[in-house]
Amino acid sequence: MKRARIRGIEMAYTDEGRGQSVVLLHGFPFNRSMWRGQVEALSDRYRVITPDLRGFGESSAESDEPATMHEMAEDVAALLDEIGVERFTLGGLSMGGYVAFAFYRHFPLRVRNLILADTRPQADTDEARENRERQAQQALSEGMQGIVEGMLPKLLSPTTLGERKEVVEELRAMMLSTNPVGAAAALRGMGERPDQTHLLPRILAPTLIIVGSEDQLTPPKDAEIMHTEIRGSRLEVIEGAGHVSNLERPSEFNRALRHFLDSLQP
Ligand code: MLT
Repeated sequence: MKRARIRGIEMAYTDEGRGQSVVLLHGFPFNRSMWRGQVEALSDRYRVITPDLRGFGESSAESDEPATMHEMAEDVAALLDEIGVERFTLGGLSMGGYVAFAFYRHFPLRVRNLILADTRPQADTDEARENRERQAQQALSEGMQGIVEGMLPKLLSPTTLGERKEVVEELRAMMLSTNPVGAAAALRGMGERPDQTHLLPRILAPTLIIVGSEDQLTPPKDAEIMHTEIRGSRLEVIEGAGHVSNLERPSEFNRALRHFLDSLQP
């Protein structure tokens, strides 16, 4: 694990391998450890950088004020400036995808290729935003337990829940270790995120869209909208996976990732 002091926070990250850089952004309420399998699968040919977004993992959580997707994107830009990486492939799962959209919007020339996994471009509905605020208050008053148990059945496919106990336990432990202050800030930040649908036709970077066939939170129909709107994009549906497709079906996810990246190498 490495650390950088940027924009007033301590940011933890891993940086493995050599080659063109690939930056992967985790979802909510996870941390960089969710990408371990992808770091292993890619680092023989790529430099893979996985930050803990502000308030998650071993990065510091400063306050429960909204941590916006734009702010997290600025953190990622500052981290990459700090380690001297100008252009890279940017990938994000779910909340990581929201941050990737914000990043693309502000720094399009830094994005060589884009990977959008189990995410969506739309903003929250009013109801979803109110629910986020309730969850933020729950995290601050009771800790992560209630949120984690409420989310797990929605995050994973029935097959993963029934047959892959080690995946369920790994995810549960990761979520329970999340700092409630960081979680509350991110929930509020996600609630404030703008709609990014209008950005899709302006995305010029080669784009891979991945979705679990049983993703209930950002279902395949959201992935299809992105696929239709992002010119030349590739869509991979991972059969039997839910919302955390990289952990639920790592071989299929890695194959899709590797195929996409290798096909773009000079
Ligand atoms: C995630 O996995 O990052 C979250 O489910 C995203 C969200 O709550 O919108």
